[in-house]
Amino acid sequence: MQQDSLRAVVVGAGTMGTTLAKLMALNGVKVTVVDTNPKVLEASRQRLGPHAAMTCFATDLKMAEVPDFVIESVTENVDVKQKVVAQIEANVNDATIIMTNTSGIPIDEIGSALQAPQRFVGTHFFNPADIVPTVEVVPGSHTEAETVQKACGWLTRLGKRPAVLKTCVPGFVANRIQHAVMRECLSLLEKGVVEAEALDDIVQYSIGVRMALNGPLCQRDLNGLDTHLNIARYLYPDLDARQQPSALLEEYVAEGRLGAKVGRGFYRWGEESLARHQAQERNKLQRIIELAAQGSNGGES
Ligand SMILES: NC(=O)c1ccc[n+]([C@@H]2O[C@H](COP(=O)([O-])OP(=O)(O)OC[C@H]3O[C@@H](n4cnc5c(N)ncnc54)[C@H](O)[C@@H]3O)[C@@H](O)[C@H]2O)c1
Repeated sequence: MQQDSLRAVVVGAGTMGTTLAKLMALNGVKVTVVDTNPKVLEASRQRLGPHAAMTCFATDLKMAEVPDFVIESVTENVDVKQKVVAQIEANVNDATIIMTNTSGIPIDEIGSALQAPQRFVGTHFFNPADIVPTVEVVPGSHTEAETVQKACGWLTRLGKRPAVLKTCVPGFVANRIQHAVMRECLSLLEKGVVEAEALDDIVQYSIGVRMALNGPLCQRDLNGLDTHLNIARYLYPDLDARQQPSALLEEYVAEGRLGAKVGRGFYRWGEESLARHQAQERNKLQRIIELAAQGSNGGES
């Protein structure tokens, strides 16, 4: 699909910025990737491979051509993001839509320094952005309906499934659910109920595979809401409801166990095993998405 008329800028060339640039290049959108760190820009160029030929790279926001939309995808820090979106606004014209790829910082907080917050909207992509279909579209309290409509139109043209939230809550939908699940996972590890490998196995091959085919609500319909209620009544008092991140997670991060990128998180990772895992994951994700899209949700609203 060619999108000759669309021009985009992605600010931040890290993990997400690079797959966002790939998504644009794959769909014929003229994209410029901006990052203040020239080394990150070079790494992004390498990771884009043949798609780098369709991509411009820059270390500052001065734009040669005014884009239709700019996606802010810099470090997940509200102060940094506030400054970056204000800089973006100063460099584009009134018609440009400004999007933030924050994972869950409230849109009004990021856009608090904007002159025209009505053209600012959250578009939360998932990693890798060129493959995972859903994008959470999150309006702030000043975002105009037309901005949401335009953003959804472009996302659809990029082959995405935009899902619009009615109101902005911290963490949006996906990260609230992901963190609720992880709070319980970490609690089970801390209590010594199960080892990491067994926990991953149980979740991946039970509720994991099922949820690839049915959303949680559809799945519960299929199981029976009365049964769900009976379980909820005795289980909720026993579930982890802590207000602070788990001590185990704090401990791992303090020890430098940051995950695959440093060779150790819950598991140990070598460079080769990580590269193999990531390559297989991209391929398997594509196959699962194809399968999931084949059978639509059978329920009626
Ligand atoms: N990694 C994920 O799985 C994921 C998924 C969805 C959304 N996100 C969100 O996407 C955003 C980026 O995440 P990431 O994982 O790509 O982070 P990252 O750390 O890999 O990349 C962030 C990049 O921003 C650049 N940067 C910082 N300040 C800048 C500035 N003033 N101007 C230009 N560039 C600047 C940094 O040099 C860095 O390259 C975050 O808001 C994150 O929460 C991440």
